[in-house]
Amino acid sequence: MSSRTFLVRTASRATTTTRFTPIRTFASAISVPKIDAMHPGSIEISKAQQVATNGLVSAIGNTPLIKLKTLSQQTGCDILGKAEFQNPGGSVKDRAALFVVEDAERKGLIKPGGTVVEGTAGNTGIGLAHVCRSKGYKLVIYMPNTQSQGKIDLLRLLGAEVYPVPAVAFDNPENYNHQAKRHAERLDNAVWTNQFDNTANRQAHIETTGPEIWHQTGGKIDAFTCASGTAGTIAGVTRYLKTISDGKVQCYLADPPGSVLYTYITSKGKLIERSGSSITEGIGQGRVTDNLAPDIDLLDGALHVPDEKSIEMVYRCLDEEGLYLGASSCLNVAAAAQLAEKLGPGHTIVTILCDGAYRYADRLFSRKWLESKKLLGAVPEHLHRYIVLE
Ligand SMILES: Cc1ncc(COP(=O)(O)O)c(C=O)c1O
Repeated sequence: MSSRTFLVRTASRATTTTRFTPIRTFASAISVPKIDAMHPGSIEISKAQQVATNGLVSAIGNTPLIKLKTLSQQTGCDILGKAEFQNPGGSVKDRAALFVVEDAERKGLIKPGGTVVEGTAGNTGIGLAHVCRSKGYKLVIYMPNTQSQGKIDLLRLLGAEVYPVPAVAFDNPENYNHQAKRHAERLDNAVWTNQFDNTANRQAHIETTGPEIWHQTGGKIDAFTCASGTAGTIAGVTRYLKTISDGKVQCYLADPPGSVLYTYITSKGKLIERSGSSITEGIGQGRVTDNLAPDIDLLDGALHVPDEKSIEMVYRCLDEEGLYLGASSCLNVAAAAQLAEKLGPGHTIVTILCDGAYRYADRLFSRKWLESKKLLGAVPEHLHRYIVLE
């Protein structure tokens, strides 16, 4: 008979961890390393690692908070990244997807067998597809027809009905968001989840991301920064951290080129015409969404991050931290480094690692693409060995 070790729950230490003490049985047949020596005291297992009893949806959230060791050493601050790429759908948007669907359920807007409709070109669609399959809903996605076939194929293979439509401005009734709304109105038992202005999105981060960050840092956090797409993440986390810390945690929006929010925040309310563009996806905004409006005045400031800095950080995160991240995550990390410089050494700064580089690899690591965007020079010379695609 082989020797075995059982874990026995002895006490609940905090909301997101449970303490287990290893006990040994069949001690006479021991042939494995001494467990007590390997784990003096106890093993701590987060709830996310226990059985997700409600299926996939209960595995959303409770992501690790990773110290970026090299960047922390270089800046003299603790730079911590919330590993949202570890959500089941691979991004921070799983949280919003779950909350907008459960909000619709609570309000009686959708019943079993119903249809969720959303306008999205990215991660929200993937999050919704997972949540809808897990809960037994149908999913319809409208997106601009400028998006890659890969994105359309992925959503379709996740069970969604996808309508690529002409890419027209928001004020045109044929814009993909308005078409999504009308589609839901035509069906019985269907809801348009409206991620940009549905504040259940922001609520996801007030109820989950914010408390997780506070708990994981033990309240030892000086600043938070991240970018805005719908603004659910920046608004919800800012609202939570400002409230729990009595306003002490400083919160900064990180903004790419082509977004109006940096100017809006730094000029205290001037809404400029949208101009320019960025290689980052899922972030940058032309207006103050309903998710951002209640919390925009809580922000201490905004940080502008040019694409050169985001791209440099894609390669540095890979080489120095072992983190394979998309460009919006790396814009966030670059903003955290800017903030570290602004605040000086000794501070703890948290940001969001929104998703991995998997969906963007054919661009981010392609020499031709980098050249076409005039970004090849942004990759430090010694990291050119990561540019493995032509
Ligand atoms: C890759 C990526 N990063 C960041 C964001 C921004 O998150 P939020 O919509 O909460 O502002 C998104 C949103 O779609 C995204 O897809």
